Amino acid sequence: MKQTYYITTPIYYVNDNPHIGHAYTTILADVLARFKRSSGHDVYFLTGLDEHGQKVQQAAEQRGVDPQQHCDEMAPRFLELWQKLHIQYDDFIRTSEPRHVSVVQDVLQTVFDNGDIYEDEYEGLYSVSEERFITEKEAESGEFRDIKKLKEKNYFFRMSNYQQKLIDHINANPEFVQPNHRKNEVLGFLKQPLEDLCISRPKSRLNWGIELPFDTDYVTYVWFDALINYITSPGYASNNAGFKKWWPADVHLIGKDILTTHSVYWPTMLMSAGIALPKSIFAHGWWLSGETKMSKSLGNIVDPLSLIEEYGVDPVRYYLMREMVLGQDAAFTMESFIKRYNSDLANDYGNLLSRVTKLIQKFFDGKLPPADDESDEGKHVKESAVSAIQKVNGCIDSMKMNEGIEESLQFIRAVNKYMEKMAPWKLAKENPKVAGGVLRTAAEALRIGSLLLKPVMPNRTEIVLDTFGSISDEVKWGGLTDDFALKDHEILFPRIDAKKTTVNDAKEKKDNPEGVILYEDFEKVELQTAKVLEAEKVEGADRLLKLQIEVGEEKRQIVSGIAEYYSPEDLIGKMVIVVANLKPATIFGIESHGMLLAASNKKELSIVTVAGDGIISGSKVY
Ligand code: MSP
Repeated sequence: MKQTYYITTPIYYVNDNPHIGHAYTTILADVLARFKRSSGHDVYFLTGLDEHGQKVQQAAEQRGVDPQQHCDEMAPRFLELWQKLHIQYDDFIRTSEPRHVSVVQDVLQTVFDNGDIYEDEYEGLYSVSEERFITEKEAESGEFRDIKKLKEKNYFFRMSNYQQKLIDHINANPEFVQPNHRKNEVLGFLKQPLEDLCISRPKSRLNWGIELPFDTDYVTYVWFDALINYITSPGYASNNAGFKKWWPADVHLIGKDILTTHSVYWPTMLMSAGIALPKSIFAHGWWLSGETKMSKSLGNIVDPLSLIEEYGVDPVRYYLMREMVLGQDAAFTMESFIKRYNSDLANDYGNLLSRVTKLIQKFFDGKLPPADDESDEGKHVKESAVSAIQKVNGCIDSMKMNEGIEESLQFIRAVNKYMEKMAPWKLAKENPKVAGGVLRTAAEALRIGSLLLKPVMPNRTEIVLDTFGSISDEVKWGGLTDDFALKDHEILFPRIDAKKTTVNDAKEKKDNPEGVILYEDFEKVELQTAKVLEAEKVEGADRLLKLQIEVGEEKRQIVSGIAEYYSPEDLIGKMVIVVANLKPATIFGIESHGMLLAASNKKELSIVTVAGDGIISGSKVY
């Protein structure tokens, strides 16, 4: 019986545009799955989409379509990207599928029957625009609109019951949360009392979700739905052989942003439902755009599709796997991409192939020479191959992807050096047999190097293997066929001319540096002087003041979070500056029309005022 290996990626929000972060986790899972398959494991690789929730419901409403239809139309964007990236998944799960709905309901009922789900009333401040409960501090920040007090009944999962059991599990299983610093982070989090988890939303607020089996007025909310995908796919509930074969999963790959949900919510849910815990959860870091977080608002998200179009899929996979130290953040820059491509792929790997094949064509009529080089140097290459295979496997087992790739490249570089030293182009005239041996040894080494890199670059490595007629995928010295006529091959990795590339973040940055806005953006903000006519404290909100102001002819009311720094009397008569065209908001039930400017270093705060008698209220501020 083959050893099994079950690996998962997070399921991605269907509404998101697939970006380099999603591509990264999925490629990583694909590379690990391919390594395991090639080392004889029976592999199950799961990825998919997280489809329920408010955002999807809203997006569908805006388009005037049913949420299911909306999801059906969004899902292909991910499927297309996975196809372009050569992702060989075994299952692509979507949480709106009936098979998933029934497993979620089954687990919810079990947890409910165990007494771990209870009903409670929650009262708090609710932001209608954000569709979520917010803290008092958030309400006072003025960043949230349409705030109201809301009392709502919901269902809660007794996560707190499992706190100690989870701590014990993590301590007893050092591999459960990886890397080690993430494990410590989780243990640190578990030092404070664990709160119970709200798992429902009333249908009056959200109906695009999975109905609670014990109260049909509610749907599950976010994590109780999403996390369960990992057991739906291998067939939980039908209690079939598939589930027994694959569960518990070997590794849940996740980004560091969803560490708590996976290593605290998920195991406690499983404990309550009486299901075995996954063997490990591995949290990788984030891809940054240079030094900055990638975000829609900064417009610096790297689009995997344009990269693939320009450079091909394998270099993208290679760069992402080689450049990130698993567990830490990594910086994506076009400069480092091009450097990596030109030095590792075009120079080291690609050149070795063209050198070896050209020499075999020239001196041996394109026929693979029959025997290896038996000199010390030749033997050394063979030994290096054996040790590279071992080292790469060790790196993959310990999730050191970048080191594994570097080992393969070191090996290829060593073969380049061997070629330099042996100079078969010179030897060919004096001693063709020895020259042939050198070229066969180099060809065999290239075959081994290509097999080691194949999980990372399944396409281009195939060209090398095909050129030499390698039929076996076994990563073992001696797999070349005798008496084989070399096939022609295209240039493996044409060099990139950095000046000609169209995907060039360096240029964009020069034209439009990060954090810089255009004058027309600034022009959209209408700043005006305003005179404070009246001011009073807002009852029940320590930080808020309600001001009546005059902006030219117009009288307005604004609410401002400055009560800790100013008493109402200090403000009356002051000429302040307001953002006059800000959309009105309701703060603490009070209409606020505009925002007052203030300077703050978090400890002190000073409102911006205008001195000078000539300036009247309603004057424009530039
Ligand atoms: N739907 C949830 C996960 C539920 S899993 C049961 C979710 N989805 S997501 O679409 O936001 O994608 C999350 C994952 O995308 C992250 O955990 C991470 O794997 C990946 N990344 C998104 N942006 C990233 C970077 N900039 N860098 C690396 N990976 C990041 O959360």
